[in-house]
Order: sequence, then C-alpha cells, then structure tokens
Amino acid sequence: MTRVALVTGAARGIGAETVRVLCRDGYAVVAVDSCAGDDVPDGVAYALATRAELDAVAAEFPDHVLARVADVRDREALAAAAADGVDAFGRLDAVVAAAAVIAGGLPLWESPDSHLDNQWDVDVKGVWNTAAATIPHLLNGPDPSGGRFVAIASAAGSHGLFHLAAYNTAKHAVIGLVKGLAADLVGTGVTACAVSPGSTRTRMLDATAAIYDLADVEEFASSQLIRRLLEPAEVAATIALCCSLEGAALNGSVVSADGGFGR
Ligand SMILES: NC(=O)c1ccc[n+]([C@@H]2O[C@H](COP(=O)([O-])OP(=O)(O)OC[C@H]3O[C@@H](n4cnc5c(N)ncnc54)[C@H](O)[C@@H]3O)[C@@H](O)[C@H]2O)c1
Repeated sequence: MTRVALVTGAARGIGAETVRVLCRDGYAVVAVDSCAGDDVPDGVAYALATRAELDAVAAEFPDHVLARVADVRDREALAAAAADGVDAFGRLDAVVAAAAVIAGGLPLWESPDSHLDNQWDVDVKGVWNTAAATIPHLLNGPDPSGGRFVAIASAAGSHGLFHLAAYNTAKHAVIGLVKGLAADLVGTGVTACAVSPGSTRTRMLDATAAIYDLADVEEFASSQLIRRLLEPAEVAATIALCCSLEGAALNGSVVSADGGFGR
C-alpha cells in the first residue's frame, strides 16, 4: 500500500523538504504551491516561490509527485488539487499545511491592518481551507485510522516575538485551529497535530532577519539551545513522523521542532 500525502508550500523550504522525506519514505505526494513569485501580499517584503522551483522538486521524484499550482486562500483550487491527487494515486492519507508568509517590523499599534489581514488570510485561513478541502478525503478513504493532518505553526504560536504582532496572532490561531480540529475528529481515526519549528534556514528566515535589520541570519542561532539554525530537512523529519501511522500518538498536540527555542 502506497500512502499518499498532500503538502502545501511545497516548492521550497520546509515544505519542499517534507515532499522529499515523504517520497523517500515511499509516499506519493501532491505538491501544492501558489508559485506567486514577486506577486506578494501587501507587507510581504520577499518573493515567494516560482513554478520552476515547484517543478524542480517534482522532477526529483518522477511518477511520485503531482505538482499543482494553487493558492491556499482559494479553497476551490485546493479542492481541485486534492481531487486530482486522489484520481492520480487512489487515496489521500496525510496532509501537511506548510504554506505561509511573514510580515512585520513594527509594534502592533503601528502595524497596518494589511499585515493582520494578509497573514490571517494565508497563514490561518489557508490552513483552514486546506483542512476543509482534504479532511473529507481522509475520512472517506480506505484507512481513516491512518489519516493525519499536520499544520506547521511556529515558535511564534506559543511565544510573543518582537515586532511580529500579526504573525504571532496567526500562528497562535493555527494552534487553536488544530486543537479544535482534533476534537472534531474524535472517533474517526483521523488525527491532527501542529509542528512548531524554530529558526530554520529558509527564505522566510532570511526575510525575518531583514525585518529585524540583522546583518547575518546566523544571529537567530542564539535563541535556541542547540545554538545553531535548524536545517529544513531536520524539521521535515519531525513532520514525517507526524504523518506516519505512529504519529497517531501526537494527536491534538503541538510538537516543538525548535532545538530548544527561547530558553
Ligand atoms: N523558517 C523558519 O525559521 C520557520 C520558523 C517557524 C515556522 N515556520 C513555518 O514553516 C512553514 C514553511 O516556511 P518556510 O520557512 O519553508 O518558508 P518559505 O518562504 O521558504 O516557504 C513557504 C512556501 O509557501 C508558499 N506560499 C506562500 N504563500 C502561499 C499561498 N498563499 N498559497 C500557496 N503557497 C504559498 C511559498 O511560495 C513558499 O514556497 C511556514 O508555515 C512558516 O510559517 C518557519
């Protein structure tokens, strides 16, 4: 039996590494990304991934990855991607909601409304839409007891990070979303959990360093006990555990993959 996963934010960073580790574990994967490039939400000061990046990830695993361009703000596009995955691979077992953006740099009372609106729409409603579009496939599949929904939150989901008011708000909401989802799934076999990465070497961390005017992204290493940045593959390994059959034990929980953040 080939387990099938759908991953959002799959073109680069933690999402792309999640596609890679799941494929190596024998999954078929629907890899979803908006591939919006320079067409970013207001307040987002860095480019998102491109179609070429998504296609390059898919090309690493011919016949095992179905690449789909979809914006997580567009529930119909997500539903179409999930349906295409079920058509192609016959089932859906695990879903990883990794797509997100970051914007900030000001205290809450000086932050434009667009920071909250856009991070709410992508980082929270995007996870909501991903759950709404995919959970029915997990419930109606051949093995709901193996169904896993994994939302990528953040250390900002349980800490208040300086000058990231809207991102903190959004990531705390993701944790509430997942806990409520796990409660709604009682008795179905499908489970839900959140993974909260610490500072991980991706384009989003570069963007966060720019928000803080840091000369070097490595300065974030001092905020985690491991005293170095995490690599996307290290976080993806934790996400893969959450996707696995053994991941059922993590239902309703927030798994910190942060090297000991903020201690
Ligand atoms: N890198 C870190 O230090 C860190 C720390 C904590 C949490 N996270 C979380 O990890 C997840 C992955 O982030 P990353 O660091 O790999 O960032 P990244 O910017 O490298 O990757 C994010 C991906 O999401 C895609 N995306 C953005 N908006 C989208 C939309 N509306 N619809 C579909 N796709 C969209 C981008 O194109 C990109 O490929 C995010 O949820 C992020 O908040 C990252």
